[in-house]
Amino acid sequence: MIIEPNSHTLGARVLELDLSIKLKDNEIDALMHALGSHSVLEFPDQSLSTSQLKSFSERFGQLYISPGGRAQAQGHPEVMILSNMLKDGQALGIKDAGQSWHTDMSYSKMIAFANVLYGTTIPHRDGKPLGATQFRDMRAAYEDLPADVKQTLADKTITHDFNKFWEMMRTRPGSTRPALSERERQARPPAVHPAVLIHPISGKKVLYANPGYAIQISDLSEQESTEMLEFLFAHQLKDKFLYTYQWKKNSLLMWDNIGTIHNAVADYEPHEHRYIERCQVMATRLYDARGTTQPIMFASGSTV
Ligand code: SIN
Repeated sequence: MIIEPNSHTLGARVLELDLSIKLKDNEIDALMHALGSHSVLEFPDQSLSTSQLKSFSERFGQLYISPGGRAQAQGHPEVMILSNMLKDGQALGIKDAGQSWHTDMSYSKMIAFANVLYGTTIPHRDGKPLGATQFRDMRAAYEDLPADVKQTLADKTITHDFNKFWEMMRTRPGSTRPALSERERQARPPAVHPAVLIHPISGKKVLYANPGYAIQISDLSEQESTEMLEFLFAHQLKDKFLYTYQWKKNSLLMWDNIGTIHNAVADYEPHEHRYIERCQVMATRLYDARGTTQPIMFASGSTV
């Protein structure tokens, strides 16, 4: 395989690798390291069935199955469909997934390592692709924090709550999301993680906060916590950390959820169709079952 980094701190293209064929262990290891270094990997011109997408994704860790059971591919509950398309009047998938800055599964005790998305229908207008996925680099964002903020965050944890993002999406015009039931809330209780994580592959510090789910910083008063979170959200959303991926038909995009936050750009209309299949890979190869404070192995001398 050839890994071609782009000119940003995020992003690389992986060429000459057919993901429909079972990869060797050393190829998976090389991709894990590439994710640690470049965070967002594009694999252009792939031809994958749903089951091949799943087989590739599960080499990186356990695949998440959404307890809601919504928008799952037929016969493959680990594969979710992100789409605004209808068939016989029925939605084929989730039409508004990820349309605000967040980190997938930060509200879960076992966090997500990677997202794997395979796009087969990409909206276009006047020849230009729409529905980009944007990223911000949380290693660079951490490095760029003022020294006193780094010091404050060093021993802090942040609570992340699934309901925060859900409620925000419900306020959007035209949203059809109902409020979460008590059972749905209990299925995804809030989780607590260090505000700064040592990335388990790169060994670099990353800011592990995101506007989608982060609700409270430990050991601060409510007001101090709110002010600090507002500061962190404004900081991490600065343009200098931004990388935008414009989709191409039949590309597979894989990204590291530990060192980035992301946003799905909602700049297309209902008749401009988008169809993407997604697997969410949990960080089960990187952390033990006790969660983010217990990494299995770091980059130096790692088995990853
Ligand atoms: C997501 O948050 O996983 C969705 C990203 C996208 O559809 O671009």
